[in-house]
Amino acid sequence: MKFRSFGNTDIKLSAIGLGCMSMSHAYTGRDDTEAIATMHRALDLGINFWDTADMYGNGENEILISKVLAPNRDKVFIATKFGFKADKDYNFILDASPAYMKRAVEDSLRRLKIETIDLYYAHRIDPKVPVEEMTGAMSELVTQGKVRYLGLSEASAGSIRKASSVHPVSALQNEYSILTRDSEKEMIPLCKELNISFIPFSPLSRGLFTNTLDMEKVDENDFRKQLPRFTGVHWKNNQNLARAFAEMAVEKHCTPAQLALAWILAHGDHIIPIPGTKHRKYLEDNAGAADITFTPADITDIDDLLKRFPDIGPRYTEKFAKQLDNS
Ligand SMILES: NC(=O)c1ccc[n+]([C@@H]2O[C@H](COP(=O)([O-])OP(=O)(O)OC[C@H]3O[C@@H](n4cnc5c(N)ncnc54)[C@H](OP(=O)(O)O)[C@@H]3O)[C@@H](O)[C@H]2O)c1
Repeated sequence: MKFRSFGNTDIKLSAIGLGCMSMSHAYTGRDDTEAIATMHRALDLGINFWDTADMYGNGENEILISKVLAPNRDKVFIATKFGFKADKDYNFILDASPAYMKRAVEDSLRRLKIETIDLYYAHRIDPKVPVEEMTGAMSELVTQGKVRYLGLSEASAGSIRKASSVHPVSALQNEYSILTRDSEKEMIPLCKELNISFIPFSPLSRGLFTNTLDMEKVDENDFRKQLPRFTGVHWKNNQNLARAFAEMAVEKHCTPAQLALAWILAHGDHIIPIPGTKHRKYLEDNAGAADITFTPADITDIDDLLKRFPDIGPRYTEKFAKQLDNS
């Protein structure tokens, strides 16, 4: 495994992290035994940067992770998040108030069975709570030793600057992939400037660029069924894009997942993607992306490919955009 620096620290994180969400939440095929084996395999491969959130499976994801994390505490840099209270129907209630955060951090520590969270994110900026107030409360957790570093997810440049005026922000977690490139213009350069690690979530476009996703076979409650890119006319476009992308990967002697992750890694050495999986074979595949040689010509080839399949569709429906978009 290759490693990248975390923020402006001496901490080295695996260039490919592990997103744990799909082990308990959002996507099809829960299998705790395989998920636990995947975490053990991550330890073998040196994948030391794991990502979760209190809302994934309403706490179940943190409990599952604790089974491997707690006995291997020194081998993993664990990131979790607070801010969403979710019910089983994916109705999200955003609450990043200091009062809720103080409860949420204790719950996460208890479920993860650890004393300190390495990286604690605000899952979204809550318009009801001034960013400075939220960050001030988060920084108290650092003083108390409950948290080591602070991060934000889907935050605007303005929010990052406000938060940074109170306490250093070490990581920004935004959706970033070949399909979702909004961060390229402002956020990725800003993170570079401010020594903030940029952590792309859904780096495989929620599995699309693996070219293994069959929307006819996923469960009815799979979150992607509610997203425009995975339904109707956009899905047709994107499925064809994924097929063409997979052909390109063959030419470049790698798998499609590796090509998609190598594309991300090539956009800056402060970028650490966290592909999500609960399968050892996928984890091993994704780990191989760190060794792919990627050239500027490859970026151009992918840009040209995107032009052939322009109808990718929006990230979210209007309903989800209101709850989940940048602030
Ligand atoms: N901050 C936020 O708001 C936010 C939002 C979403 C996600 N996240 C974080 O980001 C992480 C990654 O995002 P994501 O899970 O949404 O999307 P992703 O990493 O783009 O894709 C995950 C999907 O791709 C499949 N997959 C992964 N590697 C594969 C491979 N090599 N070959 C074939 N299929 C493969 C997974 O299958 P299996 O699961 O069946 O193995 C899963 O269905 C999450 O785990 C979570 O920690 C954060």
